[in-house]
Amino acid sequence: MSAEAQTAPPLEALLKIDFLIIGAGIAGLASAVALRRIGHRVTVLEKDDGSNQTSGGCRMPPNMSKILLNWGFEEELREISLIAEAMHLMIYESGEFIGTHRWTKEIIKEAGGSFMFTHHRDLLQLLKTIALSSGAEIRHNAEVVSIDSTGQTVTLANGDVLTADVVVGADGPDGISRRSILKDSNVDCETNSSLSGTVIYNTTIPAQSIYNDTDLAPLTEGEHAAYTWMGNGCNAMVFHIGGVDEFSFTLTAPGDAPEGSWAENVPITHLADALASTHCEPRLHKLGRLAANSSLTRIPLKKYEELKHWVHSSGRMLVIGEAAHPIPARSFQGSAMAVEDAAALAKLFLHLLNPDQISSFLWAFQDLRQERCEKVLRGELGNLDVISYPPGALQQARDDDMRAKHAAGKGALDSISEWDQNKGVFGYNAEDAADEWWIQWGILRERAKENGAPLGHPLNVRVEHLVH
Ligand SMILES: Cc1cc2nc3c(=O)[nH]c(=O)nc-3n(C[C@H](O)[C@H](O)[C@H](O)COP(=O)(O)OP(=O)(O)OC[C@H]3O[C@@H](n4cnc5c(N)ncnc54)[C@H](O)[C@@H]3O)c2cc1C
Ligand SMILES: *[C@@H]1O[C@H](CO)[C@@H](O)[C@H](O)[C@H]1NC(C)=O
Ligand SMILES: *[C@@H]1O[C@H](CO)[C@@H](O)[C@H](O)[C@H]1NC(C)=O
Ligand SMILES: *[C@@H]1O[C@H](CO)[C@@H](O)[C@H](O)[C@H]1NC(C)=O
Ligand SMILES: *[C@@H]1O[C@H](CO)[C@@H](O)[C@H](O)[C@H]1NC(C)=O
Ligand SMILES: *[C@@H]1O[C@H](CO)[C@@H](O)[C@H](O)[C@H]1NC(C)=O
Ligand SMILES: *[C@@H]1O[C@H](CO)[C@@H](O)[C@H](O)[C@H]1NC(C)=O
Repeated sequence: MSAEAQTAPPLEALLKIDFLIIGAGIAGLASAVALRRIGHRVTVLEKDDGSNQTSGGCRMPPNMSKILLNWGFEEELREISLIAEAMHLMIYESGEFIGTHRWTKEIIKEAGGSFMFTHHRDLLQLLKTIALSSGAEIRHNAEVVSIDSTGQTVTLANGDVLTADVVVGADGPDGISRRSILKDSNVDCETNSSLSGTVIYNTTIPAQSIYNDTDLAPLTEGEHAAYTWMGNGCNAMVFHIGGVDEFSFTLTAPGDAPEGSWAENVPITHLADALASTHCEPRLHKLGRLAANSSLTRIPLKKYEELKHWVHSSGRMLVIGEAAHPIPARSFQGSAMAVEDAAALAKLFLHLLNPDQISSFLWAFQDLRQERCEKVLRGELGNLDVISYPPGALQQARDDDMRAKHAAGKGALDSISEWDQNKGVFGYNAEDAADEWWIQWGILRERAKENGAPLGHPLNVRVEHLVH
């Protein structure tokens, strides 16, 4: 794709409206960028003061990098990321290498983007810079404490009251937006999440200290890759991230932790303790020691119930990103789903001519995105399962299968069902799907309206044939 093609100016909506976005995470900032691109007015409300440095690596699968590349940010993206080519798999307890999976040129080409590894904070900062330069307003220290029943008016902790045509809740899985939607549908929100007895630890290791170590250096030779250790109820992953020269190190292990946040550092000693509580191979202990001077975050893995409705009954408020579809931390697709949401939302609101279309577009968004997100979530849960099988028949079959594939020169993940969908998951184009919705259903609806037909709820639209 040529640089000119990528940066062609987007069309603008004929009717431009005001959006209030709650939360300046990846979903909120990407939506701000996408909506500004088509001319809508955007204010983002973020409770933090903007100084919080998040830590950890962020993997951008092709479906996600494709959208950012399409928006014309290739150069900026390359500056903060590395393109990954492969994933190597090892046994957590013994260190035995059992296979490699390469994201072949064909898969990547078909998917239309690259597998890119970056720092979460660099990606947030990039989106923030782009949002501001495209004219979005971002207010920090702006915690939303209530959303009224019109779904259009929010109150901040400092007492300010703000109103917009549409409120977009992008404040994460534990935010006020998800709670308001649950309350709106009379669901007791307290019962809708639970801890799973698993904790995820996130840190980084200076690249040089890995290169200096005779046991670890061989790991990193050759192509840029992700390294996954598959263990009994635990797993670890290491990958090289762009920008600052570091490796990301994530450990998933059984345990309990108080509610955590990715912005809150805990003493680094927790990492060594967690490693010690598992039967990990020596290189993992070593990696833990090399993180001695890094910051560590840890969060308990939570399970959330699926949210049936993403749209408030007022038809003026919507949840997106993790507020709509929480995805387990450490997933490949968490950030990607947030960016896809942003892209799909803007594709729909490009067609806005009349305020009475607003609520249909919000319901159309749910129609378009809900099934895809559920499918991706199922795949992700399957992936996490596969790399943490307890010893037994499944684990044995998995390992034998990977070893045999490796011996035959095949990709370790070829035809393991959950991973096999990667082609489908990566190639999906969230913007095309939204365009297709408009062509097939949106235009029909507009015609029906001109002819005086009653406005049906767009939920009667079937979308199976739109979302592949
Ligand atoms: C601080 C932080 C660090 C993270 N670090 C990583 C990482 O290193 N690697 C990784 O892969 N993923 C990380 N994640 C998760 C990742 O961002 C998400 O999985 C994914 O990008 C989709 O997130 P989201 O934008 O839907 O929600 P979130 O990322 O949860 O963002 C929600 C935002 O809303 C804000 N907010 C919440 N409540 C209110 C309120 N009442 N009023 C105003 N603002 C509010 C929060 O402060 C936050 O900025 C992190 C998330 C957070 C919040
Ligand atoms: C940073 O994040 C932590 C954890 O979420 C929070 O307690 C703290 O208030 C935040 N700091 C600022 C300055 O926003
Ligand atoms: C790596 O080794 C070089 C040469 O011995 C040394 O100068 C450097 O400080 C080491 N760096 C780290 C991070 O260990
Ligand atoms: C941590 O920092 C100290 C002091 O700078 C240094 O001596 C030590 O080698 C560092 N440890 C690691 C693992 O990088
Ligand atoms: C939340 O949990 C309750 C009780 O378990 C359940 O009945 C309800 O369906 C859940 N709500 C959603 C939106 O999943
Ligand atoms: C760090 O934490 C986030 C939380 O969502 C997770 O998605 C991310 O993958 C973690 N980092 C790494 C390297 O896995
Ligand atoms: C990711 O790519 C696959 C493969 O084309 C595609 O089927 C899938 O719909 C894409 N996913 C999304 C969310 O676009």
